[in-house]
Amino acid sequence: MLSLLEVGGPLLERAAAGSPLSMALAVFAFVLSLGYLLQRGSRLLHQPPPAHGNYPPFISSSIPFLGHALEFGKNPIEFLENAYEKYGPVFSFTMVGQTFTYLVGSDAAALLFDSKNEDLNAEDVYSRLTTPVFGKGVAFDVPNPVFLEQKKMLKTGLNVAQFKQHIPIIEKETKEYFKSWGECGERDLFEALSELTILTASHCLHGKEIRSLLNEKVAQLYADLDGGFTHAAWLLPGWLPLPSFRRRDRAHREIKTIFYKVIQKRRQSEERETDMLQTLLDVTYKDGRPLTDDEIAGLLIGLLLAGQHTSSTTSAWLGFFLAREKSIQEQCYAEQKAVCGEDLQALDYSQLKDLNTLDRCLKETLRLRPPIMTMMRMARTPLTVAGYTIPPGHQVCASPTVNHRLKDSWADRLEFKPDRYLQDNPAAGEKFAYVPFGAGRHRCIGENFAYVQIKTIWSTLLRLYEFDLVDGYFPPVNYTTMIHTPHNPVIRYKKRSH
Ligand code: HEM
Repeated sequence: MLSLLEVGGPLLERAAAGSPLSMALAVFAFVLSLGYLLQRGSRLLHQPPPAHGNYPPFISSSIPFLGHALEFGKNPIEFLENAYEKYGPVFSFTMVGQTFTYLVGSDAAALLFDSKNEDLNAEDVYSRLTTPVFGKGVAFDVPNPVFLEQKKMLKTGLNVAQFKQHIPIIEKETKEYFKSWGECGERDLFEALSELTILTASHCLHGKEIRSLLNEKVAQLYADLDGGFTHAAWLLPGWLPLPSFRRRDRAHREIKTIFYKVIQKRRQSEERETDMLQTLLDVTYKDGRPLTDDEIAGLLIGLLLAGQHTSSTTSAWLGFFLAREKSIQEQCYAEQKAVCGEDLQALDYSQLKDLNTLDRCLKETLRLRPPIMTMMRMARTPLTVAGYTIPPGHQVCASPTVNHRLKDSWADRLEFKPDRYLQDNPAAGEKFAYVPFGAGRHRCIGENFAYVQIKTIWSTLLRLYEFDLVDGYFPPVNYTTMIHTPHNPVIRYKKRSH
């Protein structure tokens, strides 16, 4: 995941397609980054090895500086599973000059979910990625108690009354988008669902005005902004003049300018809407201070991007599982008719809730392919877990993907079996065996919206098409992206005759 090649490769590749100036800048930036990393690495190499005391078992590496980055980057899940087998639930290793300590299994992961933010800190690891994208004054740029207040405000806008309005919007956007797919064919499902998710999320979470401005130019701005979520942005100093950083910063300014205009217009309007934007205009902090336009714009960007890759990747994996397990796909289609009637009328919220088979399929997809593979915190104080002490400076991690497939917790752990949730399973008794949306103070606020969005999209798609794998091809996991996406995600589809 943190391979140096990955940092430099795409950068040079992209620059090569651009002007000679951007090529020169990219080379300059790459050399600077390399220097920066090597400097950090040499500092690390000259540090004494960690004292053994009761520190977690340390997986040593013969590769200086990079440590386990290449092996981990190739298949992080396999790496972590092997380490768990060998060292138990808590272990440390280095990658690119940083020490990571993983907490595997429900009991060990409790440390990450139950600790105070002052002890295991999220801003220290996430802010350098999120602040340039969302902007200052929100999320990980503010002290956690302030972010918690902001999360509460956002949650106010993610309520059942809102979801009831969202369902017809999502159904309409989906039908509209998939018109271009025609009767049958083979297409990139992930690309389609990524584009659709921006449209639906923008419509539902930003409001109709911002959705109506979403043309190709704005979509490109989102793509540039999103280009800020890379390993390079996480790993390299923010002051580097990389083309992707510059594009990200320009996109941030331009999107905010668009949002400010819409926010101003809403503030001046006589009419009151009943959407997220209105909620953010009306809400106040505990001390009575309303949100500024800049905070509202930052939160709107955050809402869209927090749900974009997570939901679109989950939707795509769900599609491939249903295409592979044809009998489950047919069960889901039959459920549409059983719940919504033979004539498959427009969906509503109460029906969506009754689509239990589809619900379990989504739950099982999130078990096998949770989009957030690792949650991270920085240890600021010494912490004790399983008899070990984790020293300050370690990046402490828990992985939903690994917890979701532990042998002791899950029967037939690698199989897609949505009906497992109808029976008792060992994981049910473990608090953190199933954590696709995290837990504790950093828990996701978008779970219900994500379920509404993905279930509505898939209800609409199941009514439109029957899906198959292309000659049995089930996409392997692409581990090079921060969120583990399906590799070459082409699916076969054929219109249903009903
Ligand atoms: C399938 C969809 C989604 C998945 C699997 C997912 C997963 C997660 C996870 C694992 C976390 C915890 C991160 C951590 O502890 O470090 C999280 C936090 C969060 N998510 Fe989601 N998410 C999804 C969709 C959404 C959506 C649609 C929104 C917004 C509408 C959203 C907004 C947030 C926010 C604001 C946080 C809080 C971060 C914090 O307090 O540190 N997510 N999400």
